[in-house]
Amino acid sequence: MSNRIYTSTKRDQTINKYSNREFTKMDCLKWLDTLEDESINLWILDPPYNVLTGNMKNKNGAAVFHSRYTAKVSPSESDLEKGIVTPRFEVAIPWEEQQKLEDYKKWCYQWYCKAHKKLCDDSFMFIFWSMRYLYLAYQIFDVNRIIFWQQPNMISSISGDFCYDITPIIVVRKGNPRLTKEAGLWDKSSVLNFTKPQGNYKKDKLCHPTQKPQALLEHLVWLSDTDHNGNIIGDFFAGSGSLLRAVNRADVKLCDMNREYYDKFFDTYVTDSRIYTCKVIDERKNK
Ligand SMILES: C[S@@+](CC[C@H](N)C(=O)[O-])C[C@H]1O[C@@H](n2cnc3c(N)ncnc32)[C@H](O)[C@@H]1O
Repeated sequence: MSNRIYTSTKRDQTINKYSNREFTKMDCLKWLDTLEDESINLWILDPPYNVLTGNMKNKNGAAVFHSRYTAKVSPSESDLEKGIVTPRFEVAIPWEEQQKLEDYKKWCYQWYCKAHKKLCDDSFMFIFWSMRYLYLAYQIFDVNRIIFWQQPNMISSISGDFCYDITPIIVVRKGNPRLTKEAGLWDKSSVLNFTKPQGNYKKDKLCHPTQKPQALLEHLVWLSDTDHNGNIIGDFFAGSGSLLRAVNRADVKLCDMNREYYDKFFDTYVTDSRIYTCKVIDERKNK
């Protein structure tokens, strides 16, 4: 299947060198409290949804979390130091084993409410979610619609049939935001085809196991019509910091409790001015 050419590829590529870009290493709930209310023009969020396991139950019958996912990138030094990398390169994510599904929902609702408060009126929030746990999205978020990100380079076998992998993106609207006037009906499609970054890709080098494609992020940013001087676009599950490569003019505020993936991303894309002008705020180092 060939990749569709979206109109977002024709958008203005000029980079505003005066944009304020920052990556803070902090827990998101704490970080959200540092922001002013109604100060963010767009959230693109990618929470750790793969932590949920399908049908595992603990001894009390409650659903449990897997606190690991398999990483295709090499483990960072600090992961090794902390002893959280197994020989199969499984990288521990910040969840404890055996946490209940209810805890996860509660936590998601907590960051969602805070993020909603920080969002300007008439703005969008896009949340990458899990197909298997789609029903949870309706319990936690004010779902306006769902966009499906189809990955033409990823195929899974489901009961013997092969299908392209698909990831839902939840669209939340605060007030009455409109998609860019430049978008035609095709661009507003509910199924977007973008290849998932892989270890051997030259343009979209993999620095985080669940890194989102630059082109898909660019498309979402363009659709939301928010990449303008003085606007702020944010992501507090920033991982590698992939959003930085998708925003040319607006300010970018990123947060992740893990900094190692961003460091890897920085090394990989060090010649990109959107990356090397990004300020890193690390609580540990500021103490
Ligand atoms: C699915 S990954 C995001 C990947 C990212 N979109 C990218 O393209 O690289 C989720 C990220 O959430 C971070 N995370 C999990 N819990 C967090 C928390 N409480 N506060 C801040 N970051 C957290 C993890 O460290 C992980 O990097």
